[in-house]
Amino acid sequence: MGFKILLINGPNLNLLGRREPGIYGSDTLAEIEARLQEYAASRGAELQTFQSNHEGEIIDAIHEAAGWADGLLMNPGAYSHYSHAIRDAVAGVKLPTVEVHLSNIHAREEFRHQLAIAPVCKGIVVGFGWRSYLLGLKGLLDVLAEAAERT
Ligand code: DQA
Repeated sequence: MGFKILLINGPNLNLLGRREPGIYGSDTLAEIEARLQEYAASRGAELQTFQSNHEGEIIDAIHEAAGWADGLLMNPGAYSHYSHAIRDAVAGVKLPTVEVHLSNIHAREEFRHQLAIAPVCKGIVVGFGWRSYLLGLKGLLDVLAEAAERT
């Protein structure tokens, strides 16, 4: 089915590849996005990508996605831990959203255990490196397909 998904990456994820590779891996964001686009195409879906280091721009992207996307795949970076504004945007647009993290945030510093956006998401995937995105995308497309079958 031709689902349209927006992939949103938050602050500092543009540095992937050279940012703490021991934690986040050595793949660049462009490489990860290309793999996800390939997977989306193999499922007959379309994946648009967006990265921003600014909270308001991420909120604007979520609002705009409500006009065309079927779901959101999102790594909000550090905003995951405290952005009530992004949480409210996700809740407000009602698009099924999957939150992903490269690292296992629960095995890291205390402040990363707090999740502000996850409670309004369909699900979350953490700790599988770049494959967290792949697993999240698969889950999101499966959930959308199942919902479409029911209608
Ligand atoms: C991250 C985890 C966050 O705690 C951190 O601030 C990031 C990356 C991850 O993908 O593991 O920027 O979201």
